[in-house]
Amino acid sequence: MTGNEELVVCVGEGGDEEEARILSERLGVRLSLSQGENLTVRVDGDGIAIVGFGLTFRGDFEQMLRRVGHGHLQHEMLAHAAKTKADRPSAIDATAGMGEDSLILAACGYEVTMYEKNAVIAALLRDTMKRAEKNPELCEIVGRMHLEESDSINGLSELKEKPELIYLDPMFPKRRKSGLINKKLQLMQKLEQPCCNEIELLETAIEVRPKKIVIKRPLKGTYLAGKEPDYSIEGKAIRYDCFMFP
Ligand SMILES: C[S@@+](CC[C@H](N)C(=O)[O-])C[C@H]1O[C@@H](n2cnc3c(N)ncnc32)[C@H](O)[C@@H]1O
Repeated sequence: MTGNEELVVCVGEGGDEEEARILSERLGVRLSLSQGENLTVRVDGDGIAIVGFGLTFRGDFEQMLRRVGHGHLQHEMLAHAAKTKADRPSAIDATAGMGEDSLILAACGYEVTMYEKNAVIAALLRDTMKRAEKNPELCEIVGRMHLEESDSINGLSELKEKPELIYLDPMFPKRRKSGLINKKLQLMQKLEQPCCNEIELLETAIEVRPKKIVIKRPLKGTYLAGKEPDYSIEGKAIRYDCFMFP
């Protein structure tokens, strides 16, 4: 989806009408009595969901509890790629999306500033964090996650302090058939096109000179902006390309 013209906000069962009205104003889209023909942001008793094309998706950090728990976190490839000896490390997630990777970084002890430029995705993420804050096992981790609803290229150029880590996960090019990818990705791909400013994004991150830049790529994907990293960590389907700055 390139603009917001196909999107509506509606109130579902148990949803707060005032919250839906404020959200529709913030997104600059119509508040509808019922679900739209294409994509709908639904405010219901369980929070905010994106609905359309027969699919419903809302963020849920509780589903990630096992992954961020003791004994499991060290098996996460991202935790391995982001390993640091710093006491109170800080990270910038320049492409926050639904914040799942940020959750892993925060579970590793990072204070994470997340940038998300898509207003719908930012609203979904904010709602996911709000629900997670109520979970005693997640509230401390989520307390280290801070969302900025803006373009990280601007954010990175205005940083006052160098972060330990900059993390980039721009949308992969669409290769797989939609039937083969999960609900979250199918709906996210309708909201967001593959990254078109990857060269500027990486160059801006490099100018900051953090200790490390970590980039998530498809296992067989090309290097982001064609720039060869210092080393890569490979999994079954994805790869983390790492740049070090002494
Ligand atoms: C593939 S998703 C990231 C998924 C994320 N790592 C997660 O764990 O959920 C890429 C996200 O980056 C956002 N994005 C891309 N370029 C951006 C930029 N320059 N500033 C802020 N957000 C950006 C897109 O809107 C999209 O939501």
